[in-house]
Amino acid sequence: MTFLSRRGALALGAGVVAGAAGLALPRGSSAAGAPAAPHAPARLHGAPAARTATHATFTPWTVAMPVPPVLQPVQTSGGVDVYRLPLQAATTEILPGSPTAVRTFGGGFVGPTIRARTGRPVRVAFENRLDVPANVHLHGGHTPAASDGYPMDLIQPGGSRVYDYPNQQRGATLWYHDHSHHTEAENVYLGLHGFYLVDDDAETYLGLPGGAYDVPIALRDANVDETGKLVFNLFEDLDGRPAVLANGKAQPYFPVAARKYRFRLLNSSNERELKLHVESGGQTGQLVQIASDGGLLPAPVPRTEVVIGSAERTEVVVDFAKYPVGSQVLLVDAAAGPLVRFDVVRRAVDGSRVPDRLRPLPALPTPAVTRDVSMSFDLSGELPVGMMDGKPFDANRVDFTVKRGSTEIWRVTNGDGAIGANHTFHLHQTSFRVLDRGGNPLRPDDAGLKDTVQVAPGETVRLQATFNDYLGKYMFHCHFLEHSSLGMMAQLEVVA
Ligand code: C2O
Ligand code: CU
Ligand code: CU
Repeated sequence: MTFLSRRGALALGAGVVAGAAGLALPRGSSAAGAPAAPHAPARLHGAPAARTATHATFTPWTVAMPVPPVLQPVQTSGGVDVYRLPLQAATTEILPGSPTAVRTFGGGFVGPTIRARTGRPVRVAFENRLDVPANVHLHGGHTPAASDGYPMDLIQPGGSRVYDYPNQQRGATLWYHDHSHHTEAENVYLGLHGFYLVDDDAETYLGLPGGAYDVPIALRDANVDETGKLVFNLFEDLDGRPAVLANGKAQPYFPVAARKYRFRLLNSSNERELKLHVESGGQTGQLVQIASDGGLLPAPVPRTEVVIGSAERTEVVVDFAKYPVGSQVLLVDAAAGPLVRFDVVRRAVDGSRVPDRLRPLPALPTPAVTRDVSMSFDLSGELPVGMMDGKPFDANRVDFTVKRGSTEIWRVTNGDGAIGANHTFHLHQTSFRVLDRGGNPLRPDDAGLKDTVQVAPGETVRLQATFNDYLGKYMFHCHFLEHSSLGMMAQLEVVA
């Protein structure tokens, strides 16, 4: 395995990154003598020393942030939207002027956006033109098991496979990504992900900003070396992936009209947490949060900062009418610095609104079962092993059997308090509500219907989920994809 040879170089503290001009460098991340950054155990920190001084340099704010194009169906008859989407190698420019080889859906670094409607099924034929096996999981999808991207169920190079998405779920920002076991971290990092937006009628009537004013933004960190290569190391740290890209570009600008925009923010980083705010001329602006992973909140929530863990989604409305034409408004991450510069370039009539009430959450049924789940590392061997409940993933073992229709409470513990490793917990097939965080208060970012949640070192988060409709095997895992690659994943089986 490739990471064996790097083992000798995995020393903590190698990550002092040269001050490359314009690159978004993390502040407060681990360096020698400093406390380990909390997103991975210390032994996963550090990186080959030879790499650390070779990040590319570039001038920020020279390219526009692209919005991934909406994929057009090849057929819409019979009430089903049918799409074709190849997995293919492509070249992109992450940094202006240097070509970067990436793995993509349909050639886009951030694949095309699939727009679905509640109740109208989508079928996608994925053809794997890559030279590695891969598959596709619809994250946040309420999906039959055969189409869920089971990690051992791969599309071989040259092969293809059809996935069916019934879209029997509320409007929400979902995303699709590779889920091939042991290689998901590398595949997603190298580009295999895109947005899948479910719209529903109830939402349409609210009058929220739509069309060109409804903008998905995928934010993820990256290590781009001086040749433009997107470098993947299974054992990486915050210093090792200093550039945080917005829709595949480092520090792009985005022209906006002086009106309200809906931004669908996805943290597609493998591990990095994002703490985001907007500011202009040093003044922090307002974000109005309207949705989380599973769609609209009951009511809009004014925020000054939103915190988004790996794979989580947060939707905010930003009203640029507050800023004079000619202003620049930065989207800033507390650690990495400015990520996107919104340039207010014109006035506009704004017919959109953010109503006081958005959408009530479904009632919480009475739970019948309580389970305990823990995420942790076994660091006793030569290589770290990721574990759920003390065991690494085994496709031949069903960890939990869940009765269809049942409501359960899961107590999810981050068992790595001693080494200070963060984890995020993700459950397939259904969404959950976060009930409490042990002795700690709920975080504002726990609101709404969730499918992924951050669990701090030593913390226990209580969730409630109902398992409806589909039978079969579904995954639950840490969504730090390096951790799931190393085994921090398990499966449940829904039975009749
Ligand atoms: Cu985003 Cu199991 O995946
Ligand atoms: Cu998922
Ligand atoms: Cu983890």
